[in-house]
Amino acid sequence: MATLDVDRALARWMPRLVAVWRRHRRLPEGPPTLVGRELKEIGQGIRTLSTGLTRDRALVGARYLDDPRLLGAYLLFYWPVSYAQARAVLGELPRRPRTVLDLGSGPGPVAFAALDSGASEVAAADRSAPALALARALAAEAEEPLATRTWTGGAALPEGAFDAITLGHVLNELGRGPAALPERAALLERAAAQLRPGGSLVVLEPALRDTSRELLQVRDLLVARGYAVRAPCLWRGPCPALVKASDWCHAERSWSPPPVLDALAREAGLHKEALKMSYLVLAPKGEAWAEPPSGRVFRIVSEPLEGKGRQRYMGCGPEGRMGLALQEKHRTAANEAFFSLRRGDVVALEGTEPRGDGLALVEGSSVRKVAAAGQEVRAASRDG
Ligand SMILES: C[S@@+](CC[C@H](N)C(=O)[O-])C[C@H]1O[C@@H](n2cnc3c(N)ncnc32)[C@H](O)[C@@H]1O
Repeated sequence: MATLDVDRALARWMPRLVAVWRRHRRLPEGPPTLVGRELKEIGQGIRTLSTGLTRDRALVGARYLDDPRLLGAYLLFYWPVSYAQARAVLGELPRRPRTVLDLGSGPGPVAFAALDSGASEVAAADRSAPALALARALAAEAEEPLATRTWTGGAALPEGAFDAITLGHVLNELGRGPAALPERAALLERAAAQLRPGGSLVVLEPALRDTSRELLQVRDLLVARGYAVRAPCLWRGPCPALVKASDWCHAERSWSPPPVLDALAREAGLHKEALKMSYLVLAPKGEAWAEPPSGRVFRIVSEPLEGKGRQRYMGCGPEGRMGLALQEKHRTAANEAFFSLRRGDVVALEGTEPRGDGLALVEGSSVRKVAAAGQEVRAASRDG
């Protein structure tokens, strides 16, 4: 999925979001961008949502999307972010889904991302009637087919068999306390049972340490029950990022936020440059893990950790999670790709040496990028 496609798609979506929001707030029609007092109202809502969902987390579990001002702020600020994240992750699936169920859809960013990625039958399910009404209004505005269903988070999922079931930023809102993680795993198992063969369960979560670690714990419960991870994990055992309490795992994709988003981020006093999220794509029970490409394969799971005269990253692959380092003085044509890797890229290394609890690359090492961040990792890429 090219970044440009998403940027272009969002350029088409932003005026629709603004128009639907004005109708929802019973405001007169206006220009495709937001004007002063509109920015103020939405900026205030964004501050409330940002504090309540990412800082003190007081809104988690509350019906915040039933408040028209907060729903408006969600629509204009968080919707485009979730949409871009979902396009990025859906672009990584081995098979494009045709039928999709989007659980905890809110006003539908993930559902519309699925439609724009080529799905033809998409149902958005949520407990918030106002959020579903906005999703329907957007579908009418964009002339896209979207079904909506009421779902209150419980065991009874909307009926049907699907190529993909998506959960965008909702899993972390379901349940609290020690029972929450097994309950979330049980919900994902119920959902996975409604996947068609070859289908995918797609979970997006915020790039926050606590919610990310909870997702990793849920991953471990499901991996222990025999589920294969399609992305991002190449390691098939319990998640090594859970060993140290300070570690976690998130993804980052490049994007150009639409100008309305920049204006709203400024108004709310937030930064929104990078597209960061934690995500997990699971296969239906019984389907095998994909074979990794040959060589010592790692996904880069940190940003570049530059040190004195050397480049370092954390990598996670079939051998586990470990530090990978290459000194500038050992740079050669065969290993220089190491100096421009990004979080999420997958590399195959040859000629490495054990160093501490990680690996050192040396003059004789070679580095081959087998998948860029956001690309499916194929065993076939072993031949370049
Ligand atoms: C942060 S929003 C995410 C919306 C959208 N999926 C996205 O990725 O931007 C969380 C959504 O989960 C829904 N939700 C929270 N608890 C729920 C529950 N128990 N049952 C159904 N939906 C729930 C909320 O109504 C809201 O629409």
